[in-house]
Amino acid sequence: MDDGVTRMDSIVSASHFREAARRRLPRFLFDYAEGGAFDEQTLDANVADLRAIQLRQRVLRDVAELDLGTHLFGRTHPLPVMLGPIGIGGMFRRRGETLAARAAHRRGLAFTLSTVSICSLREVRALAADGPLWFQLYVIRDRAFMRDLIEGARAAGAEALVFTVDMPTPGIRYRDVRSGMSGRYGPMRRVLQAMGRPGWAWDVGLHGRPHRLGNLEPVLGNASGLDDYIGWMAANFDPSIQWRDLGWIRELWDGPLIIKGILDVEDAREAAALGADGIVVSNHGGRQLDGVSSTARALPAIAEAVGDRLTVLADSGVRSGLDIVRMLALGARGVFLGRAWLYALAAGGEAGVARLLDLLEREMRVAMTLTGVSKVSAIDRSILTDLPDER
Ligand code: FNR
Repeated sequence: MDDGVTRMDSIVSASHFREAARRRLPRFLFDYAEGGAFDEQTLDANVADLRAIQLRQRVLRDVAELDLGTHLFGRTHPLPVMLGPIGIGGMFRRRGETLAARAAHRRGLAFTLSTVSICSLREVRALAADGPLWFQLYVIRDRAFMRDLIEGARAAGAEALVFTVDMPTPGIRYRDVRSGMSGRYGPMRRVLQAMGRPGWAWDVGLHGRPHRLGNLEPVLGNASGLDDYIGWMAANFDPSIQWRDLGWIRELWDGPLIIKGILDVEDAREAAALGADGIVVSNHGGRQLDGVSSTARALPAIAEAVGDRLTVLADSGVRSGLDIVRMLALGARGVFLGRAWLYALAAGGEAGVARLLDLLEREMRVAMTLTGVSKVSAIDRSILTDLPDER
């Protein structure tokens, strides 16, 4: 059966993967990935502001040897790139998180598994090649369960804990209601949409089961299905948490602790005071509060304020190797991919993610060569013509 497998050599950029994913996925899934909160202004600004940053072309600077390696959290990463956490990534390809983890690990790159993944930590650890596995934790009302999840992460050999703090409540995403991802007639609409996408229906709908939130199965049992995934998040995420509550997580987890979802200098200082090892400057890909600053605008001041106290990573809006170089120039030490890897997974499975990583590396190499920097650690503001206004 034609499962719509995309020929990888015909894909030459991350945006091609997006198109291929759109053709292959039922609408509710593509829109869930593509969409942002409210009117999607921040989502658009993430991409536009990053793209608008001008690189400074330099020539004749002996860039014959390029070193893209970067040392973060006790390990050398061959690229300053990690696969960020994506909820229900396993719905985009059969047991999708294991495939993406394998592609990342084959290159020695970190894969971050979401709390709300389809494949559990254990499944990913068993099926992905040995490599740096990070675990993303959400703030859940049931603290004992959070403790269990942290224990599970340790048992699965997770190297870093990525604690996401920008989802005390899910953002309001109009597309999810319109597409059938949530809402009253969602289940019926999803089945109808899947019938129009036979490749996906065969690979994931039929053969990619169980469609459950693997890490939550121990507490939710049968209720860990996807019928009301967004509703479950709204009911179980905890808006009462405050900075001082994070102390116990720091005590429980002695490995690298990375706080994800920082967009403000004061919050970045709180994270440093808490003893976090890193932060991800992020607005969750424009999926939470619309109208907040793009990451490109927020990042420089945050990196300046805390970059000497913890490792600053960034995401939101990265669509190319040039964007990765831009984020590094704005002060990030490493960059999380979000939708970029999800679309590559949807379009081409493990081979798709591997291809994406090759393309991004190639683009980074060109950008470094033509801005005259031969190693990642030398990428800084001097390779930009100007900085975006902070707003
Ligand atoms: C996300 N993101 C996310 N973050 C997180 O900490 N836990 C999660 O479960 C998810 N789930 C999720 C699902 C989908 C479909 C998307 C697109 C994003 C946010 C993600 O880790 C990252 O911050 C953004 O995707 C970065 O923005 P770009 O690069 O996708 O624009």
